[in-house]
Amino acid sequence: MESKVHLPYFDRLLELLKEQNPAAIAAFGRHVHWGYWEDPKRADGTLPDFANATEQLSRKVCDAGNITDGLKILDCGCGFGGTIASLNERFSNLEMVGVNIDERQLERARSQVQPLNHNAISFVCADACQLPFEDNSFDVVLAVECIFHFPSRETFFKEARRVLKPGGYLAICDFVPLKFSLPITNFLGQFLTSSIDKTYGTVQSDFSLSTYRNLAKKTGFVTRIEEDITRNTLPTYPLVRKLLRENGSVETEKITAGAEFLGKIGITRYLILSFEAIDP
Ligand SMILES: C[S@@+](CC[C@H](N)C(=O)[O-])C[C@H]1O[C@@H](n2cnc3c(N)ncnc32)[C@H](O)[C@@H]1O
Repeated sequence: MESKVHLPYFDRLLELLKEQNPAAIAAFGRHVHWGYWEDPKRADGTLPDFANATEQLSRKVCDAGNITDGLKILDCGCGFGGTIASLNERFSNLEMVGVNIDERQLERARSQVQPLNHNAISFVCADACQLPFEDNSFDVVLAVECIFHFPSRETFFKEARRVLKPGGYLAICDFVPLKFSLPITNFLGQFLTSSIDKTYGTVQSDFSLSTYRNLAKKTGFVTRIEEDITRNTLPTYPLVRKLLRENGSVETEKITAGAEFLGKIGITRYLILSFEAIDP
């Protein structure tokens, strides 16, 4: 299946990985998301430190999903399968399915992640908003730093609720703007649309926490965790900007610097959210 998704940063990353670029492999060969530092002052700016921080972020989201041995887990927007690889190493008797709209990423995931600990793993090319799975078939649905690319958060929540068993968990992380700042960020966003499109591709970053709360209620979920980890993710930015500069992605570096500014002044928060599926 040819990729329908428009994510120029992944096109560049896949090129770098094909060339065996050591920095790209170290930083984004497994997880493709921001890092989490328990103590951000201890971030040392090295690639191994960043790779460890990306692993910690993935674990935080999995913890918010209440994952234990023996569950059936769906990782939507699974990238190169990093979160599934992490769960595979730490838990047993899991049945895990990774979904990604980009078959090229799934090819890498399949070659990188082999089942361990009596786990079962499959990777399926599909849109997270049109999940090819039966109702009530999963215990946990994850979406690690990808929901802003999906065609609609509302459709995704409905799909996640449909495939989850009652009592199951949806756990995500997302860049969430403050509600009062939306008129300003939407206004500024108009001037940046073409730059964002050329770098990070299709991104919708106008979903506030209260909109998430309303959406959860409307789609059959109860909110369980709302954790603001913005300060724990901030050491990501200088490292990612440096990598982008080194491989000539000047425009992506500028957009990343803009996101860093919004994070530092508290306009955009990096949140981990989890929701429990309730009976209709
Ligand atoms: C920032 S990456 C995160 C990847 C992975 N979750 C991780 O943390 O390593 C965003 C991912 O969302 C995927 N994606 C974007 N739109 C999607 C969609 N509509 N359905 C499924 N996956 C999608 C991209 O292909 C990419 O793998």
